[in-house]
Amino acid sequence: MSEFPAKRMRRMRNTAALRELRRETRLSPPDFIHPIFVVEENSAAGPVPSMPGVSRHTVDSLDREIEAVISVGIRSVLVFGVPAQKNPTAAGALGEDNVVSRAVSRIKDLTDRLAVITDVCLCSYTDHGHCGVIHGEQVDNDASLELLGNMAVAHARAGADLVAPSGMMDGMVRAIRRALDEARCHDAGILSYAVKYASSFYGPFRDAAESTPAFGDRRSYQMDPANALEALAEARLDIEEGTDAIMVKPALPYLDVIRRVKDAYPHVPLAAYQVSGEYSMIKAAAANGWLDEQKVALESLIAIKRAGADMIITYFAKDASRWLSSV
Ligand code: PBG
Repeated sequence: MSEFPAKRMRRMRNTAALRELRRETRLSPPDFIHPIFVVEENSAAGPVPSMPGVSRHTVDSLDREIEAVISVGIRSVLVFGVPAQKNPTAAGALGEDNVVSRAVSRIKDLTDRLAVITDVCLCSYTDHGHCGVIHGEQVDNDASLELLGNMAVAHARAGADLVAPSGMMDGMVRAIRRALDEARCHDAGILSYAVKYASSFYGPFRDAAESTPAFGDRRSYQMDPANALEALAEARLDIEEGTDAIMVKPALPYLDVIRRVKDAYPHVPLAAYQVSGEYSMIKAAAANGWLDEQKVALESLIAIKRAGADMIITYFAKDASRWLSSV
């Protein structure tokens, strides 16, 4: 039996106040993780052409960016390093004075209000642009693990709260947890890119991080976009290996995956990464006058949260935080 006209769904939509009352999902600045690209040379700093509104900073020019992030209420940042020199074994990623560790120390000197997360991957440090070391034309999984462990320890020693391995190497969480514990960095946590697809939406990021593979692609380590059940296996392995939080990436094209992972592991903090291509598509359409940037960006972000993400890595973090406080 139909409930109409006794039941009218529109009653709860009639005024802005009722719609607020009825709202199931809310966004606020602490939901967002703000990505920061840190370059080594002054000449490399400045706007990223394929990501309007996003700039690359040097360690010395981070202060203003950090102030801006704090002033809008954001509580966490994700640091990506872009070294001046690249080499086959990612030497720039290691050692105390690697660019990410220097950025982390600077941020921690500036403020204790921010959780600092660091991307742990070799692709922007290797001259071939792959996420692990190369033997022949293959990425050598196990040989890469030790480097990832060392890199994570360098970041943790500089003060990183969480390290975020993004290379999709098997066993990376276990290797990093071991390395951190052996280095007595027990308090440094891991946010693993557990479910990362071999996506074409990363295009603009690879300009920003200079991490386009020189040959081949990432399909031997990142996931096939056709698969969702495999995401559950990836998430489970990382949880078993000791990760503190997990991630699904990209976000909007994979809302079903976010939901499945959240339902399967409701107790594990889940991040979703609204990647560079998702951001730049909205920017480009808005620049053409085809979409309303603010409305579309906020709608995408609420969709990602509604799907099950507890936190969202997004290049809209600063703008969205401002927009949210002005509505
Ligand atoms: C590094 C890494 C990538 C992104 C985050 N970490 C790129 C890649 O796998 O090529 C993409 C982020 C984005 O597109 O915004 N492995």
